[in-house]
Amino acid sequence: MSLYCEHFFPWFMEKMGDSSNEIIKALRRNANNGLRGDVLEVGFGIGHNTPYYPSEIASVTALEPNDGMIERAKRYVSGSNIHISFVKGRAEALSSFADSSFDCVLSTMTLCSVGSLSEALKEIHRVIKPGGTFHFLEHVAAPNPIDRNFQNILTPVTRTIFCGCHLNRDIEAAIIDAGFSIKDINRDQQRIGIMPKFLSYFIYGTGARK
Ligand SMILES: C[S@@+](CC[C@H](N)C(=O)[O-])C[C@H]1O[C@@H](n2cnc3c(N)ncnc32)[C@H](O)[C@@H]1O
Repeated sequence: MSLYCEHFFPWFMEKMGDSSNEIIKALRRNANNGLRGDVLEVGFGIGHNTPYYPSEIASVTALEPNDGMIERAKRYVSGSNIHISFVKGRAEALSSFADSSFDCVLSTMTLCSVGSLSEALKEIHRVIKPGGTFHFLEHVAAPNPIDRNFQNILTPVTRTIFCGCHLNRDIEAAIIDAGFSIKDINRDQQRIGIMPKFLSYFIYGTGARK
């Protein structure tokens, strides 16, 4: 991992924060709604979801590949009432967790960055208990060809600046391909701050492991 991604990106994520943006607050509240029991959060970042964790959560395993993020996250979540244990790792390789280990998995703006979307979702599906739920909030490929074209052109840039971030992934199709049945899904266009239109396509909802 580059020094830029290990040091600057976690600093940027923390400074950028998002506690004051009402749209992001609402999106995170929705994504966290219904989490319960033992939860795995993939791509924990610095822990921006922790203020939205419902009290029905028993424990959180915070999976994160970036040491710089983990270091900042440990400080950021130090006051949390919920027990959070940190595991360094990637969503595509959850071999340290047995099948059906978690009641729920949470991913917010992480599936854009994983190395292999299909492998990550296959692993997420494997570690959720049958009947358990996958909660997601992701920015996704635009439904229209003009914005999708911008996303395709800009993805090499965002992959560099935001450490792996693809703008142009069809994440809903990948969730279904991994074997989840979609319980609820919202496909929203949300302009956050000065964000351009081609960055404003989000999906959020839950998928159930059959
Ligand atoms: C844009 S940040 C989002 C962080 C956090 N989920 C949030 O909503 O604030 C993307 C996160 O995914 C992590 N990440 C990148 N590749 C990953 C992978 N293969 N598996 C799990 N997390 C990954 C990054 O280190 C980073 O913390």
